[in-house]
Amino acid sequence: MTTPSITRMTAPPSTAYKIVDVPEAYADVIKRHGIPGTFVGASEKESPWVPFGANAAIRHLLFDTRHNIFSNILWIKTAGVIGTHKHRGTVVMVCLEGSARYLEYDWVAGPGGFIYETPGLVHTLVTDHADGVKLFGWLQGPIEFYDDKGNFVETLDVWWFINHYESYCRAHGIPINKELYI
Ligand SMILES: [Fe+2]
Repeated sequence: MTTPSITRMTAPPSTAYKIVDVPEAYADVIKRHGIPGTFVGASEKESPWVPFGANAAIRHLLFDTRHNIFSNILWIKTAGVIGTHKHRGTVVMVCLEGSARYLEYDWVAGPGGFIYETPGLVHTLVTDHADGVKLFGWLQGPIEFYDDKGNFVETLDVWWFINHYESYCRAHGIPINKELYI
C-alpha cells in the first residue's frame, strides 16, 4: 500500500514580522543544559584569514571538540593544489567563489556547487581557476595528509585547527573569538 502524498503545503505558516512565544515543555531543561548558538560576522576582526601554505588561507568559523567538528572557509588564492589527503570522517562543502575539483573525479564545483565526502575517501584538491576558489566547509573527523610519494605526513583534526587559529591570533595580537567554540 502506498502512502498518499501531502498536497497542501503548510510551511511556513506565518510571515509575521515579530518575535512569537512558542510552547516548550522542557524550557527549564534547555535553559540549564542547552548550548547557545554562535555567530561569526564577515570581518577579519571576528576571524582572520590564517595562511595555509603559500597559496591558501583558512578562515575558521567553528570548533566542536566533543564531535571533532570544525567549520571554516578554505581560500585557495590562485590556481593551485591542496595535496592528497584521506578522510576519516565526513565533510560537507559548498563552493562560494571560483572553482575547484578533485583529480580523482570528473566534476568541477563552481559557485553554489555542493560537495559531500565520506570516511575512507582519498583525493587531491585542485583549482584551475585564475582566481582560485573559496569553499565553505563543515568537516567532521581527522584528515590525513600525504606527501607526493604517498608517505603519511600529518593528521589535521579539531585540535590542529584550533591551534592553527589560536597561534596566528597570538602572533598578531588578535583576540581569540569565543564565538568560534561550542
Ligand atoms: Fe577532501
